[in-house]
Amino acid sequence: MAVEDHSLFSIPVRVVDLENHTQIKEAFAPWISSTHPELRNQKLWECDTKSTFGQANREIPFELLRSSLNSHLQDYISEFFRPQNDARVEEKEIWLNVYSKGDYQEIHNHVGNRTVISMAYMLAQPARSGSFVFYRNGDTFFRGLTDYVRPDFSRDRVAPGLREGQAVFFPSSLPHYVSPHQSDSLRATVSANYWVCHPSLGNE
Ligand SMILES: [Fe+2]
Repeated sequence: MAVEDHSLFSIPVRVVDLENHTQIKEAFAPWISSTHPELRNQKLWECDTKSTFGQANREIPFELLRSSLNSHLQDYISEFFRPQNDARVEEKEIWLNVYSKGDYQEIHNHVGNRTVISMAYMLAQPARSGSFVFYRNGDTFFRGLTDYVRPDFSRDRVAPGLREGQAVFFPSSLPHYVSPHQSDSLRATVSANYWVCHPSLGNE
């Protein structure tokens, strides 16, 4: 009898280095502050992490990341997602997050109006930073058998081990969280959502 193996629901996640990280971090330095008025607690987030989410502030130097991020994004989607019928995937929103000691982010995803891909960039990661971790509760079935079955059958969370200067691209539906930040120095990330654009969708 023939044997067939199928890899179901494999989820492609891509980690890239941004070449001009030093320049980016310098430009963001004035914004990496726990008291900057543009950085606010978010009503719908169940944590104290401060963010510029939902604000269109043109002074924050996101432009320094944009061409590099967009280039990596297009490589990622053309390889794994392949938009159909001349649809494109473009930046919908981008924002800055700042973590003080003890700050974290609860399990969440970035599903929203036509948002398909999301990104997190490790802008400032001092020692003992919170970790970015992907989470899948569907994988808990084998958790009690961790020592006896393949690790990928028994884990419900995976930390990609991101270093400062790295960005991770992932499907917006993939749940993730940030573990508590344990340093007196601030942790900072830039996040973005990318959505599907097409004339028939009315968001051109
Ligand atoms: Fe997130």
